Amino acid sequence: MQSVEAAITRREEAAPGHSVLELDCPTVAAEAQPGQFVHVRVTGTDDPLLRRPISIMLRDQHRGRIEILVRSVGRGTEMLTHLGPGTPLDIIGPLGKGFPLPEPGERALLIAGGVGVAPLVFLADVLQLSHGSGYVRGLFGGLNDDSLVCWQDFAGRCEEFQATTEDGSAGTQGLVTDLLPAQIARGDVDRVYTCGPRPMMAKVAEECAATDVPCWASLEQFMGCGIGACLGCVIPTRLQPRHQRVCKDGPVFNATDVLWEELTA
Ligand SMILES: Cc1cc2nc3c(=O)[nH]c(=O)nc-3n(C[C@H](O)[C@H](O)[C@H](O)COP(=O)(O)OP(=O)(O)OC[C@H]3O[C@@H](n4cnc5c(N)ncnc54)[C@H](O)[C@@H]3O)c2cc1C
Ligand code: FES
Repeated sequence: MQSVEAAITRREEAAPGHSVLELDCPTVAAEAQPGQFVHVRVTGTDDPLLRRPISIMLRDQHRGRIEILVRSVGRGTEMLTHLGPGTPLDIIGPLGKGFPLPEPGERALLIAGGVGVAPLVFLADVLQLSHGSGYVRGLFGGLNDDSLVCWQDFAGRCEEFQATTEDGSAGTQGLVTDLLPAQIARGDVDRVYTCGPRPMMAKVAEECAATDVPCWASLEQFMGCGIGACLGCVIPTRLQPRHQRVCKDGPVFNATDVLWEELTA
């Protein structure tokens, strides 16, 4: 896997501390699948030394562009959120295994928390194109209205959409997982896809397991190489080997394979 130089073509502040970057990288745009990520470094600097993994939020194969959503939480992401158009990034990708798509006619429920919305926007986009409308529903939760970042990109690709915030500043007050039992009780959810904070995904996995609804979760983990070589990103699973690499074996896993209690301890 080779690194490619990808210039930033557009930056938008999506919410305080969050930026959407559009990157010119035709090879990545051509191959990217929902759930895959790019491993990013600012060209010409080794501070921070390691690349940072960021999900692909959208791709435009015709223009050779991808979009990523970055939330500033530390040195690397802080730098990325402030870069302007023209800045070259050094990226490797698309990396990892993405979401297995539903069979034609199956209905999908997508459940996002915070910046976990990024890979689900991409999935909703692909599902809408391949399955048509009526088959994608979205739930989105955050602490407050600022955390429902890029919600229009998500809602606009879902036939039905509901949001929650913990402080009640947007959508229904509460946790996004509070909405899940009623959705499953409708009896028309064939698959669930989720990405967000680990406790949220653990709860989604638990509900789905209890009701026999297949569920796929996109995991985050600290990363080194990003290509399966250093074992720096393993998570505990029921699979063999027990420790699976998020960068290479994931980041998307069948939720029943993940040992959520150990992961969230
Ligand atoms: C497959 C994958 C996809 C991701 N997609 C996105 C995305 O679309 N948008 C986005 O903003 N972020 C995404 N992340 C998380 C992002 O990679 C981390 O926030 C980033 O690496 C932090 O780097 P930093 O230098 O800013 O922070 P650091 O200074 O390295 O750390 C700052 C804080 O972030 C935490 N942190 C650092 N790395 C990770 C990590 N990999 N997972 C969880 N917590 C971490 C640390 O515990 C610390 O509290 C993704 C991570 C993975 C593994
Ligand atoms: S980051 Fe090196 S094996 Fe996953």
